[in-house]
Amino acid sequence: MPHHPPIAIDRTGADIHAELAALRRRGPVSRIELPGSVPAWSVTGYDAALRVLGDPRFSKDPRKHWPAFRNGEIGADFPLIGWVLMDNLTTAHGSDHSRLRRLTAKAFTPRRVEAMRPVIEQAATELLDELAAVAPGESVDLKKRFAHPLPARVISDLFGVPPEERTELLRGGEVNVDTTTSPEDAAANVERWHQQMHEFVERKRRAPGDDLTSDLIAAQEADGSRLSPSELVGTLHLMLATGTEPVMNLIGNAVHALLTHPEQYEQVRKGDADWDDVIEETLRAEAPVAHLPFRFATEDVEVGGVTIRQGDPVLVAFAAVGRDPAVHGASADRFELSREDKTHLSFGHGIYRCIGMPLARAELAIALPALFQRFPDIELAVPPDRIRPQSTFIMNGLESLPVRLGPVGGRPVGGRPMGGRG
Ligand code: HEM
Repeated sequence: MPHHPPIAIDRTGADIHAELAALRRRGPVSRIELPGSVPAWSVTGYDAALRVLGDPRFSKDPRKHWPAFRNGEIGADFPLIGWVLMDNLTTAHGSDHSRLRRLTAKAFTPRRVEAMRPVIEQAATELLDELAAVAPGESVDLKKRFAHPLPARVISDLFGVPPEERTELLRGGEVNVDTTTSPEDAAANVERWHQQMHEFVERKRRAPGDDLTSDLIAAQEADGSRLSPSELVGTLHLMLATGTEPVMNLIGNAVHALLTHPEQYEQVRKGDADWDDVIEETLRAEAPVAHLPFRFATEDVEVGGVTIRQGDPVLVAFAAVGRDPAVHGASADRFELSREDKTHLSFGHGIYRCIGMPLARAELAIALPALFQRFPDIELAVPPDRIRPQSTFIMNGLESLPVRLGPVGGRPVGGRPMGGRG
């Protein structure tokens, strides 16, 4: 294999698909350089990703398995420090991971998610009612007015975050995914986010409610060995951020895909494709989590034709995996609702598979038909090339989504009923 210098990842995320395609051309696993000149590996091939995600020799715990962090080479000025310092499932390995997973998985049982449906429906209805007051020809940012507030309300409701505290508590997660943030601001954000969450937990401790934060606090108070105070705060960071950011991107990406592929929207209108097709094809072609830090090899591992050395960081590029031509052939990059095989790993795989997947699918299954039923003639308010990506390589989303809603409709869009996967 020819020896290439590593590709330095563009922290602005200007064109993640082009960047990931360039990485894929070098092989399913290739060398990259992260912001801060940190060397790492990127996994873009489907088979290689499946292997990495399922291999216990990869750990997510930097404190135990990233020598560069342990010996102080990675400092507070590392631009992705927020992803290293979190103390939760995404930085836990082995028995610590299973302990935290058991505690948090309870929150997302099918019964719990079913109970969330009315909350999701109400949030969608209220947001659409507010949008109906906008003049049909006026440009409105659908990300700001629908794709973001919908999951933000749902996850805040689940974790008992009162409306007046939501913007502040969710802001830490927003800054954390922005990979253009300066090292100083990233470090300051981590500090502020920790402080805010500590204060939130203390308020809940004094005045518990019928919510998952109070449940986690109760679990911690009953038996401190199950959840340390730092893990409690870290878990809330994770839940509020992952409960909002990727769902927002999936809604935005799905709407964007339909509006830029009117012939496919027509298929949905005619009932030739259903909303499940839209959700799965968007997950495949526009994975909301694009290039996720971190995993670390706990020993030398051969995968995808390379040897990843013990201690090397590895990022799985979910946004590339769904577009692997080895799985989806020459049309892999195209958004096609009619494709039979929509295989992707956009919710992860194995013991790390996304806990929130059923909730995310339920949110999309409610949000998309509701939006298009209310505004069947919705269209982009600017030429497609004016829509900018979100400034991050970790997530795959849009900076904003300016649309004209058109007149209010009434009849359901999409003839075939939802399959209700999850
Ligand atoms: C469309 C929306 C979503 C997408 C695409 C998504 C994607 C992912 C992916 C790819 C992983 C695997 C990470 C890895 O292997 O390193 C993951 C894990 C996780 N997700 Fe999601 N997620 C979404 C929504 C949610 C929601 C709504 C929640 C809950 C509030 C959530 C909570 C989590 C948690 C807690 C984990 C860690 C699981 C573990 O390490 O055991 N996610 N998600």
